[in-house]
Amino acid sequence: MAQLVNEHAQMLSNEQVGPRLHLMVLEAPEIAGAILPGQFVHMKLPDLEAHILRRPFSVYARDKAAGTIDILYQEVGSVTKLMPGMQGGTVEVIGPVGNTWNAECAHALLVGGGVGSAPLFMLAEALKEAGTPFDVVLGAQTRDALVARSRYADLMQCEPCCATDDGSFGRAGFCTSLAEERLAQGCIADGAAYDFLAVCGPEPLMRIVAKMGADAGVRTQVSMEKRMACGVGACLSCVVDTVDGKRRSCVDGPIFEAEKVVW
Ligand SMILES: Cc1cc2nc3c(=O)[nH]c(=O)nc-3n(C[C@H](O)[C@H](O)[C@H](O)COP(=O)(O)OP(=O)(O)OC[C@H]3O[C@@H](n4cnc5c(N)ncnc54)[C@H](O)[C@@H]3O)c2cc1C
Ligand code: FES
Repeated sequence: MAQLVNEHAQMLSNEQVGPRLHLMVLEAPEIAGAILPGQFVHMKLPDLEAHILRRPFSVYARDKAAGTIDILYQEVGSVTKLMPGMQGGTVEVIGPVGNTWNAECAHALLVGGGVGSAPLFMLAEALKEAGTPFDVVLGAQTRDALVARSRYADLMQCEPCCATDDGSFGRAGFCTSLAEERLAQGCIADGAAYDFLAVCGPEPLMRIVAKMGADAGVRTQVSMEKRMACGVGACLSCVVDTVDGKRRSCVDGPIFEAEKVVW
């Protein structure tokens, strides 16, 4: 893994892309050059002295040549609700933090719920580059919230399988039913059974899909987005219970073998 760096990144843009969803582009050439799929950055925003703790965000995409990283974020609380008001300026980002997906496989299925679609995109790029067939299932509350769909479609040259809670796009309901269907039918390209499942999203989604993977005998990894404080393994605020004991999501994760997680 690359060494952690603390970059003072220029904010190049910060635009709303969906309901409470925003895309921030940062100039962070060292992190852009080193980051691996599934890793994240720990971000400290300027003028937010009341919020001394950094906030973790996955890197959605990076452009090595331009030295930029994209962050897809959702407004949920005190810091993320202030972030949309920021334009330009410098953001302090520590990265790359955490481990990467272990995607050695012949056929992969990627399942992303909500902003959980972000940490899977660089994995999709890596699978494409390796020539590994893969399919993508995305879920969101509404059509407008399916903000990663077009990026996946451009990469894959076909539509990902989509579900919306309100039925405004794709299958109506949770994307778990699409994941179950795909696991039963196999890879869209050649019908072969998947031998790797990668999941990111709300914990109930990951728990359900992890069980599907276990029942189907498919190796499954999940990205555990626990609340984090220090981000360097010191405070134990991000602990995940596993069959091997407690593990820190920031340094031992965020990606875990689903069969090891005690849900
Ligand atoms: C490894 C990792 C990668 C992440 N990647 C992304 C990403 O790409 N895009 C994105 O939008 N968010 C991502 N998150 C979640 C993001 O860090 C939180 O939404 C953010 O820290 C909330 O800060 P806040 O000050 O706005 O919320 P707070 O005011 O601190 O909390 C508001 C609410 O959000 C909940 N919350 C806070 N942190 C988390 C969390 N980690 N998981 C679930 N609920 C949380 C709290 O319980 C509370 O209900 C990631 C988290 C981790 C650990
Ligand atoms: S955030 Fe402090 S140990 Fe993980």
